[in-house]
Amino acid sequence: SAAQKDGYASFMLKEIAEQPKAVADTLLGRIDEAGSLTLDEVRIPAAELREIDKVVIVACGTAFHAGLIAKYAIEHWTRIPCEVELASEFRYRDPILDPRSLVIAISQSGETMDTLMALRHAREQGSRVLAICNTNGSTIPRESDAVLYTHAGPEVAVASTKAFLTQLVACYLVALYLGQVRGTKWGDEIRAVVRDLARISGAVDQVLGTMEPVRELARSLAGKDTVLFLGRHVGYPVALEGALKLKELAYMHAEGFAAGELKHGPIALIEQDVPVVVVVPSPRGRSLLHDKIVSNIQEIRARGARTIVIAEEGDATVEPYADHLIRIPATPTLLQPLVATVPLQVFACELATARGNEVDQPRNLAKSVTVE
Ligand code: G6P
Repeated sequence: SAAQKDGYASFMLKEIAEQPKAVADTLLGRIDEAGSLTLDEVRIPAAELREIDKVVIVACGTAFHAGLIAKYAIEHWTRIPCEVELASEFRYRDPILDPRSLVIAISQSGETMDTLMALRHAREQGSRVLAICNTNGSTIPRESDAVLYTHAGPEVAVASTKAFLTQLVACYLVALYLGQVRGTKWGDEIRAVVRDLARISGAVDQVLGTMEPVRELARSLAGKDTVLFLGRHVGYPVALEGALKLKELAYMHAEGFAAGELKHGPIALIEQDVPVVVVVPSPRGRSLLHDKIVSNIQEIRARGARTIVIAEEGDATVEPYADHLIRIPATPTLLQPLVATVPLQVFACELATARGNEVDQPRNLAKSVTVE
């Protein structure tokens, strides 16, 4: 009912607005005053976590995109190899699993049949399964060895928003915790990132306060057939998520690409006035990565693309090549998806609305898919 929407036109808009709180709630009680992680709920003994030699993430849809981002964090901070697989593909390829594999199943609902079957398969091989889930007592956490709950609160809109951000937070917590337990050479970075994570909800709130130009841009693109999304590093899964949101809500052709892969095919799609959203990493730290994406923006713009650039505040290098510039607050590279995804959610929601679509209940989709 309208009352439950707290005055918002849709559950999706309400849930987008709830993200700073969802992120803060998911961090609550998990970082102590000394800046250490305390994930007591993860009842897998530290000694066992030190023995893990492989992490495998399984999930579907938006949760899969959270998993793709988690891989960068897990491998960087823990040096444990990490694979990410669509849950629906997982068990059919006879994956290599044993008791030293940690399988992480990410699911908002905890009822997705593809993900459930993947985790059952993993347990049959003797692997440890950790669920990241938003729904207390649902099937996936019940069948797992341990669960880290996201505290997004109930998500009603079919297209996932606040659950996604909290899945990212949970993934970072797991990555940082594994790094903490195992003691890597990244100890100082881990401590610094834990501090940044504790403040990230304010950055999400800041993004939400600057979305009017994004809504205006979305409305102006309502007549387009295609929108492309590009990113590198963690910006690549963000691009995939931006494209998925647009497909789900606006029923438009939308595709996300790794920007470096452009030259190997997708650049053929660039023609006059095609909107291309580019997620630009921070110019600090991994500057090579930043330089490369700036050249990618130049390449597509030279071929007529209309560039919509999402870049960190203060990053002046992108200005000459951005037809539209969306600013996001500076964050550590690996945490950027928490702020970079928000404009893409707002963009898809507004564009879908401008096309006359019902955003909470997109056609053909279900909130939770309990068949394989
Ligand atoms: C459905 C929903 C998606 C969601 C996916 C995984 O397809 O429409 O929005 O990302 O399931 O759901 P889960 O509950 O497992 O996160």
